Amino acid sequence: MYAQLVETGAQRLRGVDEMSAQEQAFQQRIDAGVKIEPKDWMPEGYRKTLVRQISQHAHSEIVGQLPEGNWATRAPTLLRKAILLAKIQDEAGHGLYLYSAAETLGVSRDDLLAALHSGKAKYSSIFNYPTLSWADIGAIGWLVDGSAIINQIPLCRCSYGPYSRAMIRVCKEESFHARQGYDIMLALCRGSAEQKAMAQDALNRWWWPSLMMFGPSDAESVNSAQSAAWRIKLHSNDELRQKMVDQTVPQAEHLGLTVPDPELRWNEATGHYDFGAIDWAEFHAVLKGHGPCNRERLRTRVQAWEDGQWFRDALVAHAEKQTSRAAA
Ligand SMILES: [Fe+2]
Ligand SMILES: [Fe+2]
Repeated sequence: MYAQLVETGAQRLRGVDEMSAQEQAFQQRIDAGVKIEPKDWMPEGYRKTLVRQISQHAHSEIVGQLPEGNWATRAPTLLRKAILLAKIQDEAGHGLYLYSAAETLGVSRDDLLAALHSGKAKYSSIFNYPTLSWADIGAIGWLVDGSAIINQIPLCRCSYGPYSRAMIRVCKEESFHARQGYDIMLALCRGSAEQKAMAQDALNRWWWPSLMMFGPSDAESVNSAQSAAWRIKLHSNDELRQKMVDQTVPQAEHLGLTVPDPELRWNEATGHYDFGAIDWAEFHAVLKGHGPCNRERLRTRVQAWEDGQWFRDALVAHAEKQTSRAAA
């Protein structure tokens, strides 16, 4: 179904006769499932779209550390703390793989970070919501990392080699993140009534923002057809969102929690869950910078960058010293 939509979309965008011989050959390689590598010729639009997509993804990994970092010193046990620290560290690693993948497209990491720090570049809006209780750390792992996996598994097969290879590694680590989150929820739901209420409250607050993570509805989504033709978008936003709902509702039932959507019900005919309308006004407001934590996140991120300047300088000085010693 989506493939058909995409085909008509791509044809509408650009007829084959309008494409140069180079562009046609490029498209044929993609259609044949051949990966595009950094030194291969590529259309400027392909390069630009990938830089935007990969850098937004990298920024999301880095900013995503902040709401969880908030709980690193308050995890309830030593084991939970060790797990959370490992998870946050993984996210830093994901940022590094992704900035490296973006750099293969001819942009510099300093420029990408400058765009993030000035507020020009976007990152996933989900990280502009606050983490109010320990249960939020469970809900983030379960729902946010869970949604990230659904988004990223298809990207392991995307057309750009460095991005697809980074995604394979990232997805393996994301599945550990989702499981540790679900495990926190499970412990809370098997605990006292107060702990279970805390888990329910976290689900209530994180459910809808998690559904928004997949982006606007297909009808509104710009650039989808071209990205699909280039195989850097393999499923539509709505398809992926449906997958998340279908996968997560039985998990919520197993926890004994209620998904905060009165319209949610199993549809025997479609074999999927029907769910209520998403508040897109909220999505666009957070995207424009009016979410509960946009300013705080950016401020913390810029502060961390500035505080780390001496360390980056020291690394460069050390590398220079080693090079000059080796030369001597
Ligand atoms: Fe990640
Ligand atoms: Fe993660």
